[in-house]
Amino acid sequence: MTTARENIVILTGAGISAESGIATFRDKDGVWSKFKLEDYATPEAFERDPVKVQTFYNERRAGMKDKQPKAAHEALARLEKEHSGEVLLVTQNIDDLHDRAGSENLVHMHGELLKAWCTHCDNRSAWLYNIEADSVCASCGQKGSLRPDVVWFGEMPYQMDRIFDALDRADIFISIGTSGAVYPAAGFVDAANQAGAATMELNLEPSDGSYLFDEVAHGPATEIVPNWVEGFLTES
Ligand code: APR
Repeated sequence: MTTARENIVILTGAGISAESGIATFRDKDGVWSKFKLEDYATPEAFERDPVKVQTFYNERRAGMKDKQPKAAHEALARLEKEHSGEVLLVTQNIDDLHDRAGSENLVHMHGELLKAWCTHCDNRSAWLYNIEADSVCASCGQKGSLRPDVVWFGEMPYQMDRIFDALDRADIFISIGTSGAVYPAAGFVDAANQAGAATMELNLEPSDGSYLFDEVAHGPATEIVPNWVEGFLTES
């Protein structure tokens, strides 16, 4: 009997974009070592000081201009194209590097930095510039109702039903470049294990939850992800 390899679910985190020059959150020089997350990444913070929160995300959005997808993003796009089964890529990242690398079956579970969400009409639209206090919603014309379309702590990540449905059917689950510190994403490996999937961690170093995976490979994403994809597609 051969092990099933059809349905693949991949979870990515900040580590896959680190070599593109985007800071991770919990590493030594990570975002949350410089900024208190309670002041920038909660609905309460936005209510208290919207300008401070918008400025934080405006800076991040402006910082995306010179960032490019790297070999790991490209390898996952290649996997989706060349694998005969299903590949669902779930990213916690709010950057657009997976999109630009060509991944299409992609869930941005924590939202997208390059989109604005109108809290007046609920429209979400591409937004490449700063969101200011007097920015106008392109859909309803309301002024001052836009926020970054990102999921803050205390809010429900996007498309959870779709993700757990894919995890239920997964033959392989791979976690790439994430510390596994934030739920619900941190619980995906348990769901995959329960579904009988083969589970694998690809990360710079062992995460705290490394022991939950059947297999691990450690090193920079630009090396270990293309290596894994190449090996997988060659064996298929
Ligand atoms: N290659 C592979 N992994 C790397 C690399 C690299 N070049 N550089 C760093 N890493 C690993 C780190 O070892 C760490 O385990 O990436 C992981 C990044 O972890 P976090 O900074 O915690 O980022 P992430 O897991 O994506 O955070 C989850 O937390 O703050 C929230 O919403 C935010 O989506 C984010 C969520």
